[in-house]
Parts: sequence; C-alpha cells; structure tokens
Amino acid sequence: MKGVILAGGLGTRLSPLTNITNKHLLPVYDKPMIFYPMQTLVNAGIDDIMVVTGGNNAGDFLRLLGNGKDFGLKHMNYAYQKGEGGIAEALSLCEHFAKNDKVVVMLGDNIIGGSIKKSVEKFAKMKSGGMILLKEVSEPRHYGVPEFSGSKIKRIIEKPKNPPSNFAVVGIYMYDGEAFEMIRKLKPSRRGELEITDLNNMYLKKGKLGYDILDGWWADAGSSIEGWFETNKMVSLYGANKK
Ligand code: G1P
Repeated sequence: MKGVILAGGLGTRLSPLTNITNKHLLPVYDKPMIFYPMQTLVNAGIDDIMVVTGGNNAGDFLRLLGNGKDFGLKHMNYAYQKGEGGIAEALSLCEHFAKNDKVVVMLGDNIIGGSIKKSVEKFAKMKSGGMILLKEVSEPRHYGVPEFSGSKIKRIIEKPKNPPSNFAVVGIYMYDGEAFEMIRKLKPSRRGELEITDLNNMYLKKGKLGYDILDGWWADAGSSIEGWFETNKMVSLYGANKK
C-alpha cells in the first residue's frame, strides 16, 4: 500500500502566517506540521510515501524531509501541484506513483492523537473500493458530513449549513486504483476545484465506500487560526500519533 500526503494550497485561512511559507511547514507545538501526517502513515506500516505540494515553497519540503531518513524511510517521492485545483486534483498527480496499488491519502494539516493502523489493515483486506474515517465533532458544518440511513452512509455533504449528523469526514482517505479513473469524471465545484467529497460520493453511488470511526483525538490544524492554536494545545497536552 502506498501513502500520499497532500500539502499544497495557499493556506489563506492562516494568513498572515502563510504569506511567506506553506501552511504545512508551520510549527505545531515542537514540530513542522507535515511531520505529523508523515508519522501517522509510517506508524500504519506505510513506507512508500509521496508528498504533493505547490506554491513557492516546494523546495523547502525537500530540504525538510529529504529521503525520509528521520522517519526510518529509504526514499521519498514528491509531486508539484500548479494552482488551486482542489484535493482530488492533487491526488490525480499520484496516479503514476500508485500504479494501481491501493493508496492511503492524508491531508497534510490533519493531526491525530492515535493510530490508523487497524483501519489500514482492514482496508488492505478489502478486495476493492474505498474507505473513509469519521469522527464525532461539535461543529460538523466546517467539514464534509455523512448523511446516514441506518448504519449506512447515503451521501456526504461538504460543509452543510444544516448538518445531517454530528460526524465529520476526517482528512484521511483510502482508495483502490479505480480512484484515478473516477477523478477524470469529476467536474469542478462552485469554487472551481475537484472536491474529494465528490469522489467519495461517486464511490458511495457504486456501493463501494466503507467507513471506520477514528480512535483518539483529531484536529484539522489548517482550518482556521483558532483550529491551529487548538491543535498546538492538543499536541502539547496529550501528544500525537500514540501507537
Ligand atoms: C477538507 C474536506 C472536508 C474534510 C476536511 C477534513 O476540507 O473538503 O470534507 O472534512 O478537509 O480536514 P478543508 O479543510 O480543506 O476545507
């Protein structure tokens, strides 16, 4: 299984902190933000990782992560996303890297207290399809939110004004090789981006999207300055990526 970390975008929600650097290079407590998703994937047993970045600071990722030695890796892969095409477009840049293998995709600003190892192992056993992780939150309207029919997800609504449940779709997604063919069929959303929620809804329509509930705390450090500050506190108080 391959791993992908998406670390592009302009990070405008964290401006002016992001005026001269990439959001995923900002500190979260005692480490650069991107170290946390790297550790999450490595702890889940994934040792072949591609970082997709963009903007003016792409070179800094190479300087910071190098060949992944600090994480016990032998090599790293990098891709460059031009412009603001969205999360699903960023993922499409990894098609040649994935080579039809399954991929675990993690947004570079998502930080977790525990581990995704069990879910990744469960997904590895699935013949085909995708899998998402959910977490109960107090303000679901800031995220992708699943609408349930019994215990099944009917659809996912991106940042709904009236959330149909109290769950957020965590920025950790698992897909089979079909994802890339499906991304080619996506149309840009109103904000002109290829949305990961649209890809997940395509999997749902085919009846091929499973889910797990994420154990431990979860934070989206890039959503707002308050979210970033809160994440710093969570990491300092409870620690991240506990096995
Ligand atoms: C993205 C996704 C959203 C998901 C969130 C998790 O939103 O579009 O569905 O719940 O990540 O962090 P963003 O934070 O990029 O606005």
